[in-house]
Order: sequence, then C-alpha cells, then structure tokens
Amino acid sequence: MKFFIDTANLAEIQEAVELGVLDGVTTNPSLMAKEGITGQDRVLKHYVDICKLVDGPISAEVIATDFDGMVREGEALADLHPNIIVKIPMIEEGIKAIKYFSQKEIRTNCTLVFSAGQALLAAKAGATYVSPFVGRLDDISTDGLALIAQIRTIYSNYYSFDTQILAASVRHPMHIVKCAEIGADVITGPLSAIKALLKHPLTDSGLEKFLSDYKKVNG
Ligand code: E4P
Repeated sequence: MKFFIDTANLAEIQEAVELGVLDGVTTNPSLMAKEGITGQDRVLKHYVDICKLVDGPISAEVIATDFDGMVREGEALADLHPNIIVKIPMIEEGIKAIKYFSQKEIRTNCTLVFSAGQALLAAKAGATYVSPFVGRLDDISTDGLALIAQIRTIYSNYYSFDTQILAASVRHPMHIVKCAEIGADVITGPLSAIKALLKHPLTDSGLEKFLSDYKKVNG
C-alpha cells in the first residue's frame, strides 16, 4: 500500500520525505488556502516546489466546474511536471473531463467520492485514482471503511478497471491499518496519522529496559 500525505505544507512534506515512507502528496484548494498560497502564479509555483521535494504522484485540483474549464486548467497543471495528477471533482462535467484526460494519457484523481456508484463511474471514465473520503463519512455517522471495502469488491470483480483506490480523508492510524486489511491501494491523510503507526507502549517500555540493562553492565 502506498502512503501519500494530504497537505500543502512544505515543511511537513519534507519531514515525511525524511521519514522515508512517503510515496506521494495530495492537495486541495482548502489546504492551499491554509498555507496562504493565493493567485494563479503562486499556486502553480507551489505545485512545482512540492514536485521538487517528492518523486511521486502529486495531486493538484482544478477549480473550474465546467468541462472546458477543467480541461484548460488540467492541461496547464499536467504541463507543470510529469508527476502531477489532475484532481477532478465527482460531478457530471468532471466525469467527461476524466474520460478526456484518460484518452490523452493524462493521469487523474477523482475526488469527493462518497458512494460505490460514484466510484464505479470514475473507473468507467478511466480515472487513475478514485478518492473516497473515509473520515468525512465517519463524521456523519456513515461507515467510511465499509465504502472502501465495497469499492475494493467492485473493482476486483473487473480486471479491466485499472483505477486505484486512494482512501482519502484518513484521520488516524486505525483508518490506515483497516485500509491495508481491505486492500486499498493508497491512503492519504495528515503526517500525524502515519507517525502514530509508530507508537506502542510495549515498544517504549521494552526499549527503556534494554537501555537500562545495557547501562547496568557497561556503565
Ligand atoms: C483528499 O484528497 C482530500 O484532500 C482529503 O483527504 C480531505 O481530507 P479531510 O476530510 O481531512 O479534509
């Protein structure tokens, strides 16, 4: 399973690169706004800066909601760097744009997916990644992980679907572990959720004991 982080913060991305387990980055307009990245030129430069830090897929989202606008924006984003994945919302015009990009061999990430039917459509249109939002479903008392399992079953039923399941809106380590059990291809979430996988109290107490026993005989 691949690990992406969901952030536009360069320091956080650098920290994840140094950890050595990062495969890619997802961003969205809210995350770009959070970093104060405004204006088309700065936004495009920021994507290039992320591409310089990480040698893996970097999702950059279109703002347009009409087909022509998405194609225009998506082509400009794809021209920035070979690692850019054009992120397109799950709406009717978005499906048309995903189909267009798949025919041009430009990779896409279909975002804001909340149902198995939407994931089926994204795969039919030729999306490279589909992003079901686990955490946001959990937030409204709907089982986000059950959706990942449902999509896994559907995609595995058909060899012709190459679309990868990118479990998004992951919030904590158990989301990651459960996604791995289900067979999601990728997860994306904050670096804190990935780093939380490190933690176990028996690891901490065991290490403390090893070090104190070493000191007893070695001084
Ligand atoms: C996915 O690509 C989205 O950017 C993201 O995972 C949304 O996460 P959130 O629900 O924590 O905002």
